[in-house]
Amino acid sequence: MERHVWQYHNPVRVEFGIGVFDDLDRLINKRRYGLVTYPEPFFATLCDQLQTRAGAPVVLINDVQANPDYRLLAKQIGRITEGEAPEVWVSLGGGSVIDSVKVFAAANGDFNNVRNYLETGNGANRLSATPIIAVPTTAGTGSEVTCWATVWDEVSGIKYSLARQNLYPEVALIDPILMCGKPRALTISTGLDALSHALESLWNVNANPISGAHAVSAAREVMEVLPKLANDLENIELRSAMARASLCAGLAFSNTKTAIAHSLSYPITLKYNVQHGIACSFSLPIVIESVIGIGGLCEASLNAIFDGDVAGAPAKVSQMLHALGVSTKPADHGIEVATWQALVDGAFDGERGRNFIGEKSNFLKAAEALGAAAI
Ligand SMILES: NC(=O)c1ccc[n+]([C@@H]2O[C@H](COP(=O)([O-])OP(=O)(O)OC[C@H]3O[C@@H](n4cnc5c(N)ncnc54)[C@H](O)[C@@H]3O)[C@@H](O)[C@H]2O)c1
Ligand SMILES: [Fe+2]
Repeated sequence: MERHVWQYHNPVRVEFGIGVFDDLDRLINKRRYGLVTYPEPFFATLCDQLQTRAGAPVVLINDVQANPDYRLLAKQIGRITEGEAPEVWVSLGGGSVIDSVKVFAAANGDFNNVRNYLETGNGANRLSATPIIAVPTTAGTGSEVTCWATVWDEVSGIKYSLARQNLYPEVALIDPILMCGKPRALTISTGLDALSHALESLWNVNANPISGAHAVSAAREVMEVLPKLANDLENIELRSAMARASLCAGLAFSNTKTAIAHSLSYPITLKYNVQHGIACSFSLPIVIESVIGIGGLCEASLNAIFDGDVAGAPAKVSQMLHALGVSTKPADHGIEVATWQALVDGAFDGERGRNFIGEKSNFLKAAEALGAAAI
């Protein structure tokens, strides 16, 4: 018998449940903390609630925008004065806030430390590793249980990944109540990001039985819950189920990273301004079609997700996407025919693309078959 060795590792302590946000002061545990969030009133209210329990943060950064960008990150870090360095960073927000916090935790007071590391791979000794408490307010990115941050440089049009073992948050505090106010479009795009993470961890050279089990559970739950939640946004049971699914998807891809659908998505987000969760999910039917018959853990897991009907899975996922208002055609996301082939080539050459266990020729055939390339 072939000797198949695998490992699974995730050090993040997860505390999950309705109302657990009230426990945040216990987790901060009197440490000097930095608090990071978006500029909107809902988040200001949450910050006030936290401050009445935990005291004031030594640093408050409350102007995070979607997709953390070089320029804003540098400005934000520039505002942190010496002497007020937090002992722990608290992120109160979705992936953009968690990833910003990961950059702050690593920057050691100077964004150039992170920038240099991202661009050259050198200078790890100048990076810090301040602990992080992640309080996600979206159910999608799974960043609360991963050790990397997506950092965008709009000026050069490049997406970087800051990946360090010590960027795993100390705790992920997941309270579905915080997600109840998410508008429909955000609920859909973030939920589809979670579905993409689950599936991408399966057609992945790094997949293992534990990541696979998390992925199956996550994908089944998203497929079942997201269409219902999209029409019942304040349903706390459904919000809890999506938060759990997103967490499980995070636990799955925390060990594998993503693959071809994400690789394809980055230039689409950068050039065409398509939201991350949409950009990384509209191609899922094509990817599924392209791996039918691939065997192994991937096919077994797809069988488990789609009740033994992998052949029907591309249509099933397409139907769900269409019902949620997401087109599966690149043209509908602004991508011209001429650009599509170049995007696919780039996606297969990219770091995440190289995690994909499928073949480019099958991907292109699947795109033709599903009418995606005939645009
Ligand atoms: N590090 C990782 O493992 C990882 C994985 C996937 C994606 N990402 C990154 O995460 C980012 C996307 O994160 P996201 O999808 O969570 O969205 P986001 O953090 O970019 O937030 C988008 C918008 O949602 C709003 N919002 C967030 N929570 C809300 C709530 N509870 N109620 C009302 N509005 C709310 C915010 O105001 C914000 O403007 C991208 O930069 C993506 O590349 C990182
Ligand atoms: Fe993603």
